[in-house]
Amino acid sequence: MASKLSYSFSCTFFLFSFVLSEFSHFQHHHLQQNKSSDNNTYPSPFGFLKKLQGCHKGEKVNGISLVKIYLSHYGYLNYQRNPNVIDPKKDYFDEELEAAIKLYQVYYHLNVTGMLDAPTVFMMIMPRCGFPDKEIHQNSDKSSDIISHYRLFPSRSKWPKGKIHLTYGFGSRFPTRFMPPITRAFSRWATASQYFTFSRAITPQSADLKISFARGAHGDGAPFDGPGGVMAHAFAPTNGWLHFDVDDRWSVRGVPYAYDFETVALHEIGHLLGLGHSQYQSAIMWATIGAGESKGLTLDDIRGLRALYGS
Ligand SMILES: *[C@@H]1O[C@H](CO)[C@@H](O)[C@H](O)[C@H]1NC(C)=O
Ligand SMILES: *[C@@H]1O[C@H](CO)[C@@H](O)[C@H](O)[C@H]1NC(C)=O
Ligand SMILES: *[C@@H]1O[C@H](CO)[C@@H](O)[C@H](O)[C@H]1NC(C)=O
Ligand SMILES: [Zn+2]
Ligand SMILES: [Zn+2]
Repeated sequence: MASKLSYSFSCTFFLFSFVLSEFSHFQHHHLQQNKSSDNNTYPSPFGFLKKLQGCHKGEKVNGISLVKIYLSHYGYLNYQRNPNVIDPKKDYFDEELEAAIKLYQVYYHLNVTGMLDAPTVFMMIMPRCGFPDKEIHQNSDKSSDIISHYRLFPSRSKWPKGKIHLTYGFGSRFPTRFMPPITRAFSRWATASQYFTFSRAITPQSADLKISFARGAHGDGAPFDGPGGVMAHAFAPTNGWLHFDVDDRWSVRGVPYAYDFETVALHEIGHLLGLGHSQYQSAIMWATIGAGESKGLTLDDIRGLRALYGS
């Protein structure tokens, strides 16, 4: 499981999988066009949480293991750190899970109850970015023989000093109508950062930032989950990958039943530049986004970038 959830991969593997998605995988994708007729009728991949509402420490309920996987993925729970804890696959609501839920509740400004109360379940079901909220630290116990010393993203990873111009490219068959929102999102970051500039690469292969739609498992160890759930993800510098889930509904016109493409692009570009998630709900780097919601950059986002690169 650790390797499936891990975001640390070698560069070679990334290059290899980019080639894969470029030439074999991606060509079968079709963008989900305007399916307003079936609003909210897709079961969310996070829907299992609804049945677990009310669960608390000490209970054993089918599906609790999925909550553990969810919280591990987003950085709240790391069973790999301690070999003595109960098998995370088990459906037992243990102390570690309670602690993880409390961390989650603090992060999302919920009442810290340690149980799966209604507001917590509601927040967890919200469609979100696949990037973890918290960094799971590497195991510092050198005597341990656990091999899952994965990091979800390297601390303060950033573009090297002097690398202030970044080029971007689109995966093959990237729909042209989704290109202008990407360009606008880059230009908003350029204006706000007063540091980075962006231009389209001459060839997609030479781009620093590679943007594409993808479906399901797509070669980077972070599979998409169909409609709802995770709608996009991007990787910290200097990886450069930004993927949108092709199975989610996207719009460039701000319709209420689809994700606003430019808003999500703004968010994911933040990750490409080195930002993690923000605890400020109005920030573009807040992890969840609702259909039809449109946001811009805030001072919080710009401060994050300044902290990383200076002013
Ligand atoms: C999307 O669906 C709505 C409602 O059926 C329709 O009014 C609209 O024209 C459609 N838009 C596109 C781009 O197909
Ligand atoms: C889909 O959602 C939109 C916006 O919320 C609404 O106007 C429309 O009536 C909904 N369509 C269906 C079939 O529920
Ligand atoms: C926290 O609990 C208080 C008191 O029960 C309640 O009024 C409030 O709405 C709760 N806040 C959240 C975010 O659930
Ligand atoms: Zn994110
Ligand atoms: Zn991906």
